[in-house]
Amino acid sequence: MNIDINKLVRQNILNLKPYSSARDEFSGTEGIFLDANENPNGSFNRYPDPHQAKLKSMIGKVKSVEPENIFLGNGSDEVIDLIFRTFANPGKDKVIVCPPTYGMYEVSANINDVEIVSIPLLPDFQLDKQAIFETIEQDTAVKLIFICSPNNPTGNLIEGIEEIIEKFNGIVVVDEAYIDFSPESSKAQAIHKYNNLVVLQTLSKAWGLAGVRVGFAFAQSEIIALLNKIKPPYNISTLNQQQALARLSHPEEFEAERNEILAERERLEKELMQLAIVKQIYPSNANFLLVEVDDANNVYNSLVMKNVIVRNRNSVIKNCIRITVGTKQENDRLLKELKEISQ
Ligand SMILES: Cc1ncc(COP(=O)(O)O)c(C=O)c1O
Repeated sequence: MNIDINKLVRQNILNLKPYSSARDEFSGTEGIFLDANENPNGSFNRYPDPHQAKLKSMIGKVKSVEPENIFLGNGSDEVIDLIFRTFANPGKDKVIVCPPTYGMYEVSANINDVEIVSIPLLPDFQLDKQAIFETIEQDTAVKLIFICSPNNPTGNLIEGIEEIIEKFNGIVVVDEAYIDFSPESSKAQAIHKYNNLVVLQTLSKAWGLAGVRVGFAFAQSEIIALLNKIKPPYNISTLNQQQALARLSHPEEFEAERNEILAERERLEKELMQLAIVKQIYPSNANFLLVEVDDANNVYNSLVMKNVIVRNRNSVIKNCIRITVGTKQENDRLLKELKEISQ
């Protein structure tokens, strides 16, 4: 099913005449560049490539996606905000968010003055499809649905996403920030089937570049063109593009680290289960574990006192903490401190 994307776009964005940078008007590399008010000296004196051609080509190879289907953001957080600004009219349109999930969907909705329709995950942390279908049937102001898979902070893959994409006359954003830990479940290739699907991925998690700030959106070229139209022209710095390219050029290093993290996750899970304070550990498809303990606030505070910081999720899932899988040494230290707390 192909839906009319232009009907979903905010009128001011459709009408927008985007900024045309000096590097848009002339993109060759040979010549004397007196067009962008740069200082002629130095090695980072030039503005970066606003289209990030080299980086997109490399990401395309690694992810089997064509460059024309890739948009790059200053982290996927920037892409989340740009999606709101493209499709959701402030004070009028709505977004479906399925908590407990990543907090930025709600924050971005609030920044953009977009009403949130909250449809909590079921007790098994899967989508309440019935409630989602009823809502999108009854409320035409819902323009966006955010689905996080694997979900943060629960760690599980979300099922039945394509059913939602098929039934919804709006944009479905599938946030796959943690998908490199279970790549076979990615929806990236489904962008060719659905023109209302946006898949988000990032270099911040398995790829180890959270400090570099590069996130991707995969979608059909119509949506990619809209995001390109409204992004700040030079949103990915030269340094960030270089670092991302260098990292993506060595997929064998990335694979080795990912496998080590997965092995550590398994070990951590086994050892945590031995502790009296641990009640249950939810299955994880990501690089973290959601752990139910007897008293999350107490466990969290006791760990902080020992300079070990985990994420207290007690306010969203009772007595749960979220533990990121660290290095072997970090995990050993965490286990040592938890054993002491457990006694
Ligand atoms: C589900 C999810 N999406 C997106 C992000 C943000 O990623 P980025 O660093 O690419 O902005 C995070 C970071 O924690 C996340 O957990």
